[in-house]
Amino acid sequence: MSRTASATTNERSAVLEAVGLTKVYGSTSGAVHTALDGFDLRIQAGEFLGVMGPSGSGKTTLLNLLATIDSPTAGSLRIAGADPTGMRPTALALFRRRRLGFVFQEFNLLDSLSVRENILLPLVLDNVKVNEMERRLREVTERLGIGALLERRPYEISGGQQQRVAIARAIIAGPDLVLADELTGNLDSKSALDVMRILQGLNDDGVTVVMVTHDPFAASFCKRIEFIKDGRRFGELVRGGNRQAFFQQVLDTLSVMGGVADDVQAARV
Ligand SMILES: Nc1ncnc2c1ncn2[C@@H]1O[C@H](COP(=O)(O)OP(=O)(O)OP(=O)(O)O)[C@@H](O)[C@H]1O
Ligand SMILES: [Mg+2]
Repeated sequence: MSRTASATTNERSAVLEAVGLTKVYGSTSGAVHTALDGFDLRIQAGEFLGVMGPSGSGKTTLLNLLATIDSPTAGSLRIAGADPTGMRPTALALFRRRRLGFVFQEFNLLDSLSVRENILLPLVLDNVKVNEMERRLREVTERLGIGALLERRPYEISGGQQQRVAIARAIIAGPDLVLADELTGNLDSKSALDVMRILQGLNDDGVTVVMVTHDPFAASFCKRIEFIKDGRRFGELVRGGNRQAFFQQVLDTLSVMGGVADDVQAARV
């Protein structure tokens, strides 16, 4: 393939392209804070990207902008060929439901619904046919090993199980991009390992994942990590060899950057 043709292919396979993303928060006292300052990011289809940086560096701010939960003060964003920043609320809600999947630290499941209803919610909102819903439900619950929990409520299952349910809900609509913020933050190390293996399996099957994390262990599953400090890009690591070696590289970068990884347990790798 010629260089030009390959560049064109890369162009097409960008799932997300952010240029100069900036977020300035104001407060009632009139003080302003630039949480994200001209951040550029390009994510290709099939990537497994980690975002790391010290507390307050702008990771959640970045993820919320990519998730279209919040809108940028400046900069442009394209996801799956569309510009969500210009969409009206109804179109944006539909876009989010069909194109994006979210997984949060606190699981964010609805206690008033069963596990089955939580997982199916995005499809119910989209009027998907019952047969199709059941087919997709079987597919995701088998993959995540939660088939026996479907009639329970979220408060009747463990944190690790809740996070697997949240992942099922995030992927059931077949999103272009799954966005996760500290998804292992409330999990013990065994459940964190299970969840990371699941995420890796999804990525192996072609799902594009962006994951914000403090945890070098979780980050070591990524193929690429963007480091962020004071709202700006600090650097990037691309995984070359095995996960253990990448873990060490992540630790080294964090120690250069400062302000993270105080509680790292190298033994977990
Ligand atoms: N709604 C808000 N209003 C004002 N300032 C905010 C708001 N949200 C975040 N900030 C500030 O913006 C900066 C970036 O916050 P952000 O939540 O993105 O950090 P983070 O990297 O996710 O941190 P952590 O690792 O602690 O989750 C911080 O200084 C924070 O205090
Ligand atoms: Mg955060």
